[in-house]
Amino acid sequence: MTELAGKRILLGLTGGIAAYKAGELARLFVRSGADVQVVMTRAACGFVTPATMQALSGKPVYTDMWDGRIPNNMGHIELSRDRDLIVVAPASADFMAKLANGLADDLLSALCLARRSPLAVAPAMNVEMWNHPATQRNAAQLRADGVAILGPASGDQACGETGMGRMLEAAEIYAEAVRALSPKVLEGKRVLVTAGPTYEPIDTVRGITNQSSGKMGYAVAQAAAEAGAQVTLVSGRTALPTPAAVERVDVVTAREMHDAVMARVKRTDVFIAVAAVADYHVVNARGQKIKRSAGNPKIELAPNPDILGAVAAGKSAPFCVGFAAETENLKAYAQDKRHQKGIPLLAANLAQEAFGRDDNALTLFDDAGEHVLARAPKIVLARQLVAHIARMLPKAR
Ligand code: CTP
Repeated sequence: MTELAGKRILLGLTGGIAAYKAGELARLFVRSGADVQVVMTRAACGFVTPATMQALSGKPVYTDMWDGRIPNNMGHIELSRDRDLIVVAPASADFMAKLANGLADDLLSALCLARRSPLAVAPAMNVEMWNHPATQRNAAQLRADGVAILGPASGDQACGETGMGRMLEAAEIYAEAVRALSPKVLEGKRVLVTAGPTYEPIDTVRGITNQSSGKMGYAVAQAAAEAGAQVTLVSGRTALPTPAAVERVDVVTAREMHDAVMARVKRTDVFIAVAAVADYHVVNARGQKIKRSAGNPKIELAPNPDILGAVAAGKSAPFCVGFAAETENLKAYAQDKRHQKGIPLLAANLAQEAFGRDDNALTLFDDAGEHVLARAPKIVLARQLVAHIARMLPKAR
């Protein structure tokens, strides 16, 4: 993937066992096309070596204020200019205290003070150190100063204790960096997304569902959050982690999804219906498991509410986007569906080419016609869809 192509990231490491994860983070940045400059504190070098980080980032590492490789010997200025983002991972309690107080007695703290770019830190420390009022004060101060604090997570710690203070995983920090560096085309917008399958019980252990994995809807929620929107994801049952900075509401049935959406739609600027909603529910669902000995059970069905249709028909409806999975006649069915639902934009794909996969090919249908998005990972398509929505919004609202 090249989602960070051309981005210039400075990756700072301070002293902590989580420094081993910074190697993976550097690899993720480099693989996605970023230019990565690593700077390490003296303590960080006690955990991983500059040689390791040089090999993974593809560039010599800086550790010292007085490094003669910088022509004017002002490493803290030179290295902090032209950077799109500075990420300090791991950020020790000591380093956070220094940042919060504007101390600058080594290369990394000095360049953070001298920076013009956004700064994100990923704390990594023992649970008691994280919970200490001094660290909490420093974290609050850093937030007030506009520094993004990524994590920490809770769990087993290298010291043998358990609790808050574990550094986020490299992939999570990477995702945060992508979000920080994304154009904020939906800044200030409230976006509501439905995703995944619905499940309609037949009895207490059986039900009617479909093959939707939720991947496309989750990717759309992630892309909208990256674009600066405040995102709520109403999700059927999936096995997927919630994207960063997304509020998730879990539902099971179509009627629950309908109610969760309707309760929020007034506070919504953009509604994107990606969920594969069951068209029917079982009217005579049993409260106990149906026994084989019960003979041939009859399943009686009644239609579910059309969530997208209801939202689009509402008074002062948000900008509505639908999805259509067809198995044939994509174009004709998709345009029909868009007009039928009365929505400005519909994304269509062939079900057999999309369900459960990490990639997809989409065609967007709007008043201007059709826009083909070539096969790509779902997150890439989701970003293209979000950009398309953002371009349509000023005209639509
Ligand atoms: N949708 C919804 N509520 C439903 C059914 C569908 O919100 N009860 C949304 C889906 O999330 C998707 C779009 O409507 O955005 C799909 O349209 P729909 O006409 O329901 O698609 P299909 O059920 O696939 O229609 P058909 O079986 O006629 O192809």
